[in-house]
Amino acid sequence: MGFRRVRFNNFRNIEPREMRWSPGLNLLTGENGSGKTNILEGLNIIAGWGPLDRGTKAVSIPTWNSGSTEVQLTGEIDGSEIIKVKIARRYAIRVDDKAASAADLRWKIPVLTFLPDDMSIVEGSSVYRRRMLDMVLALIIPSYAMRLSEYRRGVRQKAVFLKRGMPSMIADRALLPLASWIWRMREEGVALMSDSLRGFERLAPFGVGLSLKRGGAGFERSCEDDYAKAVMVNGERERAMRFPVVGPHRDDIIITSRERPASSSLSRGLRRRTAMALMLAASESVRRKLGREPVLLLDEVAAELDPAGKDQLFSTLHERGGQIFAATAEPVSPSVPCSVYRIVSGKIDKIEETV
Ligand SMILES: Nc1ncnc2c1ncn2[C@@H]1O[C@H](COP(=O)(O)OP(=O)(O)OP(=O)(O)O)[C@@H](O)[C@H]1O
Ligand SMILES: [Mg+2]
Repeated sequence: MGFRRVRFNNFRNIEPREMRWSPGLNLLTGENGSGKTNILEGLNIIAGWGPLDRGTKAVSIPTWNSGSTEVQLTGEIDGSEIIKVKIARRYAIRVDDKAASAADLRWKIPVLTFLPDDMSIVEGSSVYRRRMLDMVLALIIPSYAMRLSEYRRGVRQKAVFLKRGMPSMIADRALLPLASWIWRMREEGVALMSDSLRGFERLAPFGVGLSLKRGGAGFERSCEDDYAKAVMVNGERERAMRFPVVGPHRDDIIITSRERPASSSLSRGLRRRTAMALMLAASESVRRKLGREPVLLLDEVAAELDPAGKDQLFSTLHERGGQIFAATAEPVSPSVPCSVYRIVSGKIDKIEETV
């Protein structure tokens, strides 16, 4: 499963030329600012996930000074289907010339993306931990992404009520079934990820435990009862803060190592290894549920690993099989077969194929 050929037209700094990709490991090398992350972003869009959140202000996607605002991304995936995503005033997606949705693309070509910030998943903000779990769940449960955005809309609505000092009971009534469903799915997702983690003990030999901490709740076992109780207990606090503090938008995934919080008990390098093990467990979880290996888009993920850690990462990725795009600004020479590309000012050249 993967991308065979891809062409970006008028997309950021990437030269409009058709690229053929290898079904295994594609290593994207190049200096800072050459366009490696842009290539990953293009693939992320063709896979139905949209532009990357790089933690900077959004900049326009069409190539600057090109005179055109229309961007077209075309990809041929295994099975020879052609995906076309046109970005003009709005998104238009077509698969083999038939209109399709972003959810259709995620199903056609399951992709998991890991950005440099995801490497701080252990010690960083809970946003990264929720993002990883949500990415897995959106691939394996068709309605998950839709219900999650419905839930987020409801939370925004509740925030408006609270801000205006109005009672938020109506919003809570609408949120309860969505919140409790998301909690149930996330708990199943965490159990699946924990199980999948067992295969990656070479990367994280110190053992990693995962559990879901429901946002502002944890009073009752049943998700429905828990939500109802939590909004009662936290009612005063929500009114004082004028912001909803109960629900999945405030969830966290607690990561432990030998029964201690991994964020405070592991060294920086070991936290990076834990992040890699989690990433591989996410991929394994998707494979177990879909029966297909997801394509991995990895941006600078080997940075900060010692040489042994890098070796273990690449050999684990190789054993896993499937298509991988890994971008790196550091010189690397993985000990596993791969295709190496060099990116210079948006121009992509294949420079090496090691078997
Ligand atoms: N719409 C656009 N048109 C033209 N160039 C753009 C556009 N958007 C971004 N760029 C440029 O693309 C360049 C490459 O960005 P990218 O983030 O892909 O680099 P990179 O190779 O990943 O670098 P790093 O190693 O620093 O992560 C940036 O220097 C940026 O100025
Ligand atoms: Mg980059």
